[in-house]
Amino acid sequence: KFKIGIMGAMNEEVKSIRENFTDITTETFGKREYTTGKLQGIDTVLVFSRWGKVAAASTVTTLLHHYKVNCLIFIGVAGALSQDLNVGDIVISDQLFQHDMDARPLCEKHQIPLTNDRLFKSNETLVQNATKSAALFIASINQTLSAITREKFSIIAPKVVTGKIATGDTFIHQSSQKLALKNDMPDTLAVEMEGAAVAQICHDYDIPFVVLRTISDKADHSAAIDFQAFISEVIPKYASGIVNEM
Ligand code: ADE
Repeated sequence: KFKIGIMGAMNEEVKSIRENFTDITTETFGKREYTTGKLQGIDTVLVFSRWGKVAAASTVTTLLHHYKVNCLIFIGVAGALSQDLNVGDIVISDQLFQHDMDARPLCEKHQIPLTNDRLFKSNETLVQNATKSAALFIASINQTLSAITREKFSIIAPKVVTGKIATGDTFIHQSSQKLALKNDMPDTLAVEMEGAAVAQICHDYDIPFVVLRTISDKADHSAAIDFQAFISEVIPKYASGIVNEM
């Protein structure tokens, strides 16, 4: 039977998506709570991954191996690396890499040791569906967020873009870090802490996946300033809004 896995890097996202579930049961493995139920009539397992590559790897492995989900959708926030991105924009992964993976001179930079993998490709159909859902959600943003909230976070005309995402176990909050990442892989749109770890494991298990990220900050000195407020005031609406359009 077809089953979807949804992972969220923010508990606020997972809680808001969970409100749309029916027939809920929950189980805990490895300190993660897995919610099984139906989302728009489809069997779905939802879980909060926590942060970082190891946390995400542990969680996605349980979704694949224990729950046997047939595809995986990862939702979270990211810092913008591209100058064209603003807070409130949505980035859909077409490729992901681990910017902190570097086993040179044994392997190439970013290459996963003992494999030929460096850039992980998302599933094209999932990318198309996610892009469509995110675009539908964004089109009604003025009904979803109050003018006050939009002004507070400078969410003016949010957009949906598809492209490259960098993953690593660092919260990027200094211009020097941001610059180094941009030099490393110039066409990278955004940086986060889980996506390419999930991608690596989905690749190992041959499971289609996609990563959706809302830009929460610009990955510079201002990154931490409004982060928590954005997460609590805006992110739950994005998460449930996008999933409802799927
Ligand atoms: N997730 C959201 N913002 C981020 C940042 N600046 N660095 C890494 N992960 C993030």
